[in-house]
Amino acid sequence: MNSDLIKQLFRSFVGKDNDSFLKAANEIIENEERKKHRILVKELKEILNKNGNLGIPSEGYQKRLKENLPIPRDAEKGFSLLEIKEFHLDWSDVILADDIVSALNRIIKEYDKSEILATYGIKPKQKLLFCGPPGTGKTLTAQLMSSLLGYPMAYIRFDSIISSYLGETATNLRKIFDFFEQGRWVVFFDEFDVIGKHRDDHYEHGEIKRVVNNYLQMLDNFTGDSLIISATNHQHLLDPALWRRFDEILYFDIPDEKRRVLIFEKYLTVITKGNSLDIKKLSKQTDGMTPSDIALICFESIKNSVLSDRNRVEMDDLTSAIIEQKRRKDIKGRTNGVK
Ligand SMILES: Nc1ncnc2c1ncn2[C@@H]1O[C@H](COP(=O)(O)OP(=O)(O)OP(=O)(O)O)[C@@H](O)[C@H]1O
Ligand SMILES: [Mg+2]
Repeated sequence: MNSDLIKQLFRSFVGKDNDSFLKAANEIIENEERKKHRILVKELKEILNKNGNLGIPSEGYQKRLKENLPIPRDAEKGFSLLEIKEFHLDWSDVILADDIVSALNRIIKEYDKSEILATYGIKPKQKLLFCGPPGTGKTLTAQLMSSLLGYPMAYIRFDSIISSYLGETATNLRKIFDFFEQGRWVVFFDEFDVIGKHRDDHYEHGEIKRVVNNYLQMLDNFTGDSLIISATNHQHLLDPALWRRFDEILYFDIPDEKRRVLIFEKYLTVITKGNSLDIKKLSKQTDGMTPSDIALICFESIKNSVLSDRNRVEMDDLTSAIIEQKRRKDIKGRTNGVK
């Protein structure tokens, strides 16, 4: 460890200087982060967080990250091209199919052993594509990966970088890739289909094609340590050339009956369950629904029971919330006669 930092720690302890202590502690954490000592980093952060006054407030930590690395901005409009966020999720927050859980566990393991893998000249899987219908947990899972790896998330909405000044888009992409080459992030390109779905769009064909090619090249040439996750719910629109670029492609499906039981249980743990509650039955009634639908159904039911001063959720609360959710989905599916 850097001897200056140790001295700074001692001096700040003797001088009761919390700011100076935190500064040194943060630098130590960042040094360890660079060395990929993730478990140590996680433990150090936890130790700091345990002590209320000395803790690294999440916002403060983000602010520090931002101070060190200026967030790239769109040159024309000045908005930031990405957002840095920190998450603290664990496996219990996301209910996923077994094959996805094992693929993700495997990736985490690869990052855990990345130093050893590096001695063989091998890198962990770095480029993931999450596909599947809306509300199946793609964004949530990217947040989970950020939490488990201990890398902050760099969140990029694709449509925001496809600037109305299309000529700027390639520059924006370059700025983004340059930014995350420097650190260790879970880079999340959300609604990535924007880039894929316009590829054959006759209006902006040339420009969009150039952007797609730029993106692919940058993905190919990426040498940083970050994990790059792209998400889409229009995988069928993506150009076949894109598929080769990903180390792992995961499909987030609509949960089956068994998984729906787990999702109901997860979202209803916060409240006392009335005797009438039959989760198996609820699961049967929600065939075809996404985890997001089920989460909403549970939130509505909990609200309902709290508002009627019961603080106990009953089957009726859930049944009516299911009917309401079905009605909403039905409206969404209507096309006003437009085909
Ligand atoms: N697999 C899951 N397990 C538990 N909760 C889930 C899961 N999937 C979705 N949810 C709930 O639904 C919300 C929305 O999910 P999320 O944003 O991850 O969906 P998405 O797949 O990214 O959808 P979109 O394609 O619209 O971006 C989550 O915040 C969570 O409350
Ligand atoms: Mg999403």
